[in-house]
Amino acid sequence: MNIKPIITLCLIALMTSACGVKETATMPLIKGETFADDEGNHINAHGGMIMEKDGTYYWYGENRPDSTPGNRQLGVACYTSTDLRNWKNRGIVLPTNETEGDLLEKGCIVERPKVVFCPATGKYVMWFHHELKGLGYGAAHAAVATADNPLGPFELIRSARVNQGVAPMNIDPDNLELDWPDLDWWTPDWRNAVEMGMMTGRDLEDGQMSRDMTIFVDDDGKAYHVYSSEENLTLHIAELDSTYTNHTGRYVRLFPGGHNEAPAMFKHDGTYWMITSGCTGWAPNEARLMRADSIFGPWEQLPNPCRGEKSELTYLGQSTYVMNLDGNYTFMADIWNPKNLADSRHLWLPVRFDENGTPFIESPYDTNKQ
Ligand code: GAL
Repeated sequence: MNIKPIITLCLIALMTSACGVKETATMPLIKGETFADDEGNHINAHGGMIMEKDGTYYWYGENRPDSTPGNRQLGVACYTSTDLRNWKNRGIVLPTNETEGDLLEKGCIVERPKVVFCPATGKYVMWFHHELKGLGYGAAHAAVATADNPLGPFELIRSARVNQGVAPMNIDPDNLELDWPDLDWWTPDWRNAVEMGMMTGRDLEDGQMSRDMTIFVDDDGKAYHVYSSEENLTLHIAELDSTYTNHTGRYVRLFPGGHNEAPAMFKHDGTYWMITSGCTGWAPNEARLMRADSIFGPWEQLPNPCRGEKSELTYLGQSTYVMNLDGNYTFMADIWNPKNLADSRHLWLPVRFDENGTPFIESPYDTNKQ
C-alpha cells in the first residue's frame, strides 16, 4: 500500500491546525423542531440573538416559564457553542429576583435581550424590553445592564423610557403639536395626528415608549437602539453613545402608524435592511422588509421577504434577529407557544439575495427547497 498520500494529508492537516487556520462554523437550519442543549433540554432562550466573541458564540434569550401556574420568568438565559450546533447551558446571566420593589422583582417581564461588546469600555452591554411587575405592558421601558464577562452576571444600570425631552430629528420641533384634541383611535383624523407626531409630543417630557427592540452596531462601531414606540405604532432608531449605555438624543421615527414590531436589522454591501412583524401579540403575521442607504433613512418599505408555503404568516414565526456570519445571513425567529412559552420553537433560515440584491427567505415547509 502506498502510504505517501496519507502521510502528505496528515502533514497538511497538522500544518493547518498549527497555523491556526480558522474553521468557520455554519448556521444549522432549524425549522421549528425542538432544539436540545447539552443536557437534552429544549433551548429556553427566546426573542434572542447570537453574539460571537473570540471564537465562542453566545446565544442570549428570554428564559420563559413552562405552563406550571405561578412560574415566573427567571431572566435572560445564555447558551454557548463553538460550532452553532452544540449548545451548553450557561444559566441565567441577568436574573430576576425576590426583592420586593426591585426593578427586576419576579413578575416583571424581560423580552428581546440583545448583547454587544463595547470596545470603548471593554464591557458587555445588554439591552432588553422591560415591563415592571404588576403593570402588564404599561411601563414600556428599555433597560440596560452591563457585565465584564459575557457570561455575566449582568448588572442593571437603568430601566426607563428613552430620549426624554428630545424631539426626533425628522420632525420639526417647532411644529411638534403638543395639544391634540381627544381623537377616537383609528379614525382618519387620529391616524393623521399619529403621523404628525401626536404620540411623540405626548411622551416628549417623560420619554418615548420602548417595547420590541434590537441593537444594531454599524461598521463604524456606532450602536443604535431600534424600538417599537408610540403604543407600538411607530418604530424609532436611536443612536447610542460610545459606551453603548446612553442615548445621544439623535433619533428618527419610521413608518408612523405602521405598527411594526420585532425589528431585526442587518447591513449588506452598504445597504441597511430591516425585517419586522406586524402587531398581533403571540400570533404570527406577515413579515415586512425595509431598506435604507443611511441608518437614519429615508427608509423604504418593500414586499414580504418570505416566499412559499406559510410565507403570509412568516412560517408561523416572528423575527428576532438576523445573524451575520462572515457575510452569510440567517433569519432567526420565534414560533411562540403562548400556552407554554418555554416550548416556543426556533426558526433559523438562510437569507438569500435575488438578482436585484433584495433579500428573501424560502419556506421551510416547501420540501423541494433548502
Ligand atoms: C409580541 C411581541 C413579543 C411579546 C408579545 C406579548 O407582539 O413581539 O415580544 O411582547 O407580543 O403578547
